[in-house]
Amino acid sequence: MKRIVVIVGALVLGIGAVMAQQDAVKNAQTFMKGNGKNAGALAAMVKGEKPYDQATVDTALAQFEETAQKLPTLFPDSIKGLKADGDYSSSPKVWEDKAGFSEHITSFGKVVSEAKTQIKDLDSLKATFPGIGKQCGGCHETYRVKNS
Ligand code: HEC
Repeated sequence: MKRIVVIVGALVLGIGAVMAQQDAVKNAQTFMKGNGKNAGALAAMVKGEKPYDQATVDTALAQFEETAQKLPTLFPDSIKGLKADGDYSSSPKVWEDKAGFSEHITSFGKVVSEAKTQIKDLDSLKATFPGIGKQCGGCHETYRVKNS
């Protein structure tokens, strides 16, 4: 009986750990989906599909900034190699090249905080947006993989 309790206990702990991993994968993905949504809102203004709106810009930049602050903790060792639902997952390089990954985080944060002081109207948005996009793309190129 005691043995069964121990085994069941271990199983429950195991399930708890798996759930925590899935939560962590989802959490990282939620931040990135927010990035995608906000980048899309900025792109629509750049393309003239939507009128310039400072509140939308401020919301987007605040969310990018929060992501930059959270990124160092979004990919704990426990989720290395785990696939996320949907189109993309993190590459194992996130963990294998921690120094490179953290450089990308730092430069993303820097570009975003500069953008906060630079974007005041459509012209400055148009001038600044490509530099932000380059940060997203630069990190994805190495550290994001398409799910097959
Ligand atoms: C420091 C690295 C890094 C930066 C900077 C970064 N991303 Fe990501 N992004 C990732 C990684 C790793 C993934 C894959 C993990 C995931 O999807 O959760 C990802 C996934 C995504 C996804 C796919 C989410 C899904 O559906 O799975 C989108 C959309 C995205 N990023 C948008 C952006 C945008 C827009 C920016 C810039 C404003 C950005 N990211 C900046 C690392 C980064």
